[in-house]
Amino acid sequence: MLKAVILIGGPSKGTRFRPLSLDVPKPLFPVAGLPVVQHHIDACYKLGQKRCSVPEKCDSNNSSKYYVAEVLLLGYYGDDELADFLLAATQSYPSIRIRYLREPHALGTAGGLYHFRDTILAPLSDENGIEDVQAFFVMNGDVCADFPLDEMLDMHFNNQCQLNQPVLITVMATETTRQQSVHYGCMVVNKNTNVIQHYVEKPSTFVSNTVNGGVYLCSPQIFDTMADIHLEMSNGNGNQQQTIISNTEISQETQKSVEERLATPVVIWMEQDVLRRLAGESKSGCINSNGNSKLKGKAVGGGVALAAVTHNWWSQLKTAGAAIYANRHYLMLRAPRQPILDGELICPPNERLHVKGCYSKIGFVYVHPSAKVHPTALLGPNVSIGEGACIGQGVRIKESIILQDAIIGQHSLVMHSIVGRKAKVGAWCHIEGSAACSDPNPNVANAKMTPQLPLFNALDGRLNPSITILGCGVNVESEVVLLNIIVLPYKTLTRSFKNEIIL
Ligand code: GDD
Ligand code: GTP
Repeated sequence: MLKAVILIGGPSKGTRFRPLSLDVPKPLFPVAGLPVVQHHIDACYKLGQKRCSVPEKCDSNNSSKYYVAEVLLLGYYGDDELADFLLAATQSYPSIRIRYLREPHALGTAGGLYHFRDTILAPLSDENGIEDVQAFFVMNGDVCADFPLDEMLDMHFNNQCQLNQPVLITVMATETTRQQSVHYGCMVVNKNTNVIQHYVEKPSTFVSNTVNGGVYLCSPQIFDTMADIHLEMSNGNGNQQQTIISNTEISQETQKSVEERLATPVVIWMEQDVLRRLAGESKSGCINSNGNSKLKGKAVGGGVALAAVTHNWWSQLKTAGAAIYANRHYLMLRAPRQPILDGELICPPNERLHVKGCYSKIGFVYVHPSAKVHPTALLGPNVSIGEGACIGQGVRIKESIILQDAIIGQHSLVMHSIVGRKAKVGAWCHIEGSAACSDPNPNVANAKMTPQLPLFNALDGRLNPSITILGCGVNVESEVVLLNIIVLPYKTLTRSFKNEIIL
């Protein structure tokens, strides 16, 4: 039995995704009709089904040997912010237990895992008895991809006997261009054994164009490595604690302050602490008085990290532009399972607005069943219409996301834009963003989205080409033209704007 932990972070970061994340946590932002992290859960759910279709991957009961029984969302949002989502997700995937684990505060990408290690490794019982955790996935909540979980499983378990050391972690890796690689965790991988020999998180110069894709498959023994790291950091030998130690007169350190230091939650990073150590390059632990690292070399207790390189679609969700890009790809991936994508319902005559399906579409389109789309509207390609949204007569929408309860007035045009929750666009408006400015260059092999595009042009202070975003509750009056605009929530726009942020 497998589990999956999705790292969703908390409210303290993510400025690049604003204003879209001001009223909904980024992990719950809807892309292709599903909250971002539901795509992760969906991939876990499909893993069991997919493996069952291959006889050699199934047991005698014709069920998969490896299936995800529990998904744990790990972060530091308030419980309330996720309650509705957890309820809905549990109803959508009744065979998977879905829970939220709340960190006391940001503990880093591995600190939270270590903190909840007992919960993660807790066996689960069903009608067939009690089952132990064979391995668990860890997935960055802000990664969007055609997750190759099946391939990761094959690599993780099939390599255990071929290597002399146990496999502690298999990292999903992807390839980028030389210039883009420095924005990610870079690794040097042995092409014959897939062992990660060298790992550097966001290096300042080129290391390798094989990069960490933010999805891991971990063996339970990974917690032994984390325990070593935790112990060193608690003893003041790690990166973070050194500052505290050097600022304190150690000779005067009282018993009380030692206890306080040991009780301070330790921040551990999967990338800088765990992967670097497993790749034999950790500088984090045990710097002795001569300045030499006692731990330099292979992982304490033995164990290797593998890289499963995938050429599937992969992207990060850092900016709003990335949401349009992810929307396009997730729509494509979900298409066969979405009967509504056919959009071929016959509309009853003499009704002004009709429920679902009664519209013309081009390419992939998702319309929530409760949305109302006028039969003369033309949607697509790559459009998602959220719950309760209302699309008026003669409207044209392409490459856009229209969020819950938004209204698009008659004969308006929306392109390369995101229209926020409860936003209202009047009649005969023209809302347009710059077409996919940060999209991967299709002429460059392995190019990914540009994650670091500056918001403003340094020369004239104007907004760089970006998609147009209308924040939650924005009201755009009729006959207004908005080109390349970001509008913060609850503004009313009575005239046209171009290349601006409306605060
Ligand atoms: N629970 C929890 N607690 N989650 C966290 C914390 C924390 O303290 N800090 C970050 N996260 C989550 C974020 O929400 C995100 O989903 C993920 O961990 C990674 O967060 P970042 O720290 O923002 O890293 P990054 O996205 O810039 O880079 C990471 O992902 C890249 C691939 O997308 C690294 O793993 C890179 O090596 C990797 O290439
Ligand atoms: P920036 O450079 O500011 O974008 O930060 P970052 O790249 O370090 O943050 P990242 O995008 O990795 O986001 C970290 C976590 O914070 C994500 O998992 C999100 O869940 C969360 N987050 C991001 N933006 C917001 C926001 O505006 N509101 C809330 N509540 N959470 C957010």
